[in-house]
Amino acid sequence: MGCFSASAPAKAIIVGEHFVVWGSKALATALSLRAAVRLCVRAGGPEVRISSRELGLRCLVWPKCDCPELRNLHAVVAAAQSSLGLKLSESVNAEVSSPIPIAAGLGSSAAVAVAFAAALMLAYYGSVERDAVNRLAYEAERVAHGRPSGIDNTVATYGGTIIYSRRAGFERLNTKLNEAVLLVVDSGQRRATRKAVERALRFRDRLGPGAGELVAFVDRLVDLAVSAARAGNFDALGAVMNLAHGMLVGVGVSTPALDRIVEALRSEPGVYGAKLTGAGLGGVVIALVAPDAAEDAASRVRPLAKAVFAVGAEEEGVREEA
Ligand code: MEV
Repeated sequence: MGCFSASAPAKAIIVGEHFVVWGSKALATALSLRAAVRLCVRAGGPEVRISSRELGLRCLVWPKCDCPELRNLHAVVAAAQSSLGLKLSESVNAEVSSPIPIAAGLGSSAAVAVAFAAALMLAYYGSVERDAVNRLAYEAERVAHGRPSGIDNTVATYGGTIIYSRRAGFERLNTKLNEAVLLVVDSGQRRATRKAVERALRFRDRLGPGAGELVAFVDRLVDLAVSAARAGNFDALGAVMNLAHGMLVGVGVSTPALDRIVEALRSEPGVYGAKLTGAGLGGVVIALVAPDAAEDAASRVRPLAKAVFAVGAEEEGVREEA
């Protein structure tokens, strides 16, 4: 009984989205935007109810789930029961609050699932075991889009800037990313990850066995991006980001609105590179920008965007909150 709070960060994929679902490496970073969950356990139930001001929802999510938007959190509870032996015999009420744009490519659903899983662990096990939280949140991601690579829940759980692949898991990197600004430009087009992932998989099927060559090429591109990020060589990192956007255009997951934002950013002095991030078909563009050029670049794209914000790389993953 009592109340427990946890939070987890958003993420941006710098190079490798979609290809990471096919098996390539990807470079991603946690962002200084955090989703928070406050969870209270009281006598009653057993049931789990969740409310979210941003989503405008108050829903029963367990034992059955009233709201399709929160089926991912139902999956967290179900996975906690099957893999951790969680026995729910009370009434659990959780309040989600998150400044992360929803369905925009910044991993908002993974951050919420991670924070919710952590708050549940605090309530029932007294501490946050990150590997367990990551596994529960992966189940939530499976519900959200069927074939997740696991990168979103991994970044939300462990934080930092990481290199990730399905095969090798993640490696935390020391980079100089924080010496530049990451400008996040929200196109305002809400995207559907599932649809974008399916479209990319159809593209892969067209390549047949040749898809392996493309995965190997993306691995090399990620290696280049990692060396550049470690060295603080933002010209090189921006060039790789531009190339990665071109590949995503070819795969068919960009949109005219995203391409316009990318072009507008690239024509600004001090912008090293710009690309869509996340699944695409809407959502956000990220740009790597010199700190003294960030304000002008942001002003240039504001008329094309729903919101523009400058964020930093975030070291901390999931954490308990007071
Ligand atoms: C979504 O943030 C990134 C994708 O690569 C999907 C995934 O990795 O699960 C499009």
